[in-house]
Amino acid sequence: MQMVEPHPAAATDRAPVDFDAWAAACAQRIRDLIGRHVPAGEGASPVLSDAMHYAAALGGKRMRPMLVWAVGDCVDGDASALDAAACAVELVHAYSLVHDDLPCMDNDVLRRGLPTTHVKFGEAMALLAGDALQTRAFEVVACDQAIAPALRARLCALLAVASGAQGMAGGQAIDLTATGRVLSEEALTDMHRRKTGALLAASVRMGLACAPALAPDCAAACARALDVYADAIGLAFQVVDDVLDASVDSATLGKTAGKDARQNKATFVTTMGLDAARGLAQRLAIEAENALETLPRLQRERAGYLSELARRIVARGH
Ligand code: IPE
Ligand code: IPE
Ligand code: MG
Ligand code: MG
Ligand code: MG
Repeated sequence: MQMVEPHPAAATDRAPVDFDAWAAACAQRIRDLIGRHVPAGEGASPVLSDAMHYAAALGGKRMRPMLVWAVGDCVDGDASALDAAACAVELVHAYSLVHDDLPCMDNDVLRRGLPTTHVKFGEAMALLAGDALQTRAFEVVACDQAIAPALRARLCALLAVASGAQGMAGGQAIDLTATGRVLSEEALTDMHRRKTGALLAASVRMGLACAPALAPDCAAACARALDVYADAIGLAFQVVDDVLDASVDSATLGKTAGKDARQNKATFVTTMGLDAARGLAQRLAIEAENALETLPRLQRERAGYLSELARRIVARGH
């Protein structure tokens, strides 16, 4: 296994941040956006709106919106575009969870400390809520008149590629066909990069896209650094999810613990064991932090939230 050492210049010229205050403001902002774009009890079918609202509004760590806004802060992105991107990626994520929990997939009854959407609303309504959350995500970006049309198209394209057959949905399909098998580290990495990493990486890429006025050289340098960062935290996130499933109780997780083993899922814990999986996640966090050191100077100074997010993705307890 390749050793990853902290970058010698790590964090020397970074402006300090109050991460907890910022995270609380992000949580409030995404609550407001979801309240606006996914209100309960409205539209053609109030029960469908209720199911969508239930799946998207109640709880969650909001990692993907925070990534969008953290990159936006780093590159001074357009505020309206960042809000739309943050909301859209969280809605796609919420849809992916609703479908992931369905009896035909992971058959889970607990999510974010509450009954899963299909337990609460029935399977057919949960299926539709997932479908409609996904399309609402694209509507949020595509119909926002405050965002330049070219940027709307770019954000939709980034989100579509990350969500579809090459990204999250493809990874979920691999997850289903891999059940009952022990995958190689390489195959597992590919699956995790798609099913979970793709949407996290899209959050980072959408954040960067929201700064179309960056000079081309600077934008290219940011894209190179942030792609490495996004890849590392994207994989780390699912490695940690596998570790937590095998080592933390359901009350802390807010979802059913120990289900990967019970369902014979292929995970980093089954492939390499708990300790090695924890070590891998830690190396990936260092890799992500090192990537931030390769940002152009101005952006590097403003990467405090991104740096803290990388650390917390790996250090999280749920
Ligand atoms: C859970 O994602 C599913 C995975 C992709 C691992 P999160 O751990 O981000 O779930 P919430 O949004 O905080 O509930
Ligand atoms: C799911 O991975 C990733 C998604 C794309 C939703 P998991 O099946 O491990 O997620 P949890 O543990 O149910 O949240
Ligand atoms: Mg799953
Ligand atoms: Mg699951
Ligand atoms: Mg899991």
